[in-house]
Amino acid sequence: MINLKILSENRDNCQFKGESGLSVLVEVFGKKFLLDTGYSDLFLKNASLMGIDLSKVDTLVLTHGHSDHTNGIPYLKDGLNVILHPDAFKNRWSIRKQEYVGLPVTEKQLKDRHKVLATSKSLEFLPNCYFLGEIPMLVDFEMDGNFSTTLDEGLTQTDLTEDDSGVAIKTDQGLFVMTGCGHRGVCNTIEHAKRVTGEDKIFGVFGGFHLRKLEKQKNKIDKTIEYFKKNSIKELYLGHCVTDEVIDYFEQALKDVKIIRLAAGKEFELELQPNREKEQ
Ligand SMILES: [Fe+2]
Ligand SMILES: [Fe+2]
Repeated sequence: MINLKILSENRDNCQFKGESGLSVLVEVFGKKFLLDTGYSDLFLKNASLMGIDLSKVDTLVLTHGHSDHTNGIPYLKDGLNVILHPDAFKNRWSIRKQEYVGLPVTEKQLKDRHKVLATSKSLEFLPNCYFLGEIPMLVDFEMDGNFSTTLDEGLTQTDLTEDDSGVAIKTDQGLFVMTGCGHRGVCNTIEHAKRVTGEDKIFGVFGGFHLRKLEKQKNKIDKTIEYFKKNSIKELYLGHCVTDEVIDYFEQALKDVKIIRLAAGKEFELELQPNREKEQ
């Protein structure tokens, strides 16, 4: 069984407030980890409203260093296992937003409070559950990535967001792949997940794919849809930086796929079992 509890997400939902951020409590075959912390302490407030006790969760995986996924870090209890790519510590100032968009803590501050594993390599951090490490650009229509312009050490540059990673869970029905913002491209992330896990079948994909503008990104969105069809993806959990107009378009184009819209406070239970090979 995989259980997903959405603690922070762009969309409000009943009494649960949204924010431009992402944080999910993931339970994989009985073991829990937190994926990202959202843009503020909202993930804790929503968790409390949902009756969730986060004090027993001891692992935090950060998809990348952007503030909408990491600003909740100062509100966490000490002593967590924190897994992230070392480039997440990059100093980032967004030209478009005119604000600092990097981690809210320095590398030293994070290491003083937590057990930090900063790695660009993939890692099976729980049974059947992999941190993907650095995602190579593999798919032709995603070579340009979803990058922003940042100011780093006084230089204006395209931020290739090398730290943008994700999680892949090996199940009896194929991989369940989770992204944060999808800066390196959702299809690149899936292709990399196949290499890391040795599993080609994809059951579902979760996250932000950085697909916001249907008209402007139509070519990429159409190719992404073809890719999803080719890979016979069964379920898509879409939110954060996937806008409603893009989700509507996915729904029209992928009639056989179960498409779920994320929102704060939502909870999903996926009837998936661990990958059988692993158990033998
Ligand atoms: Fe994001
Ligand atoms: Fe991001």
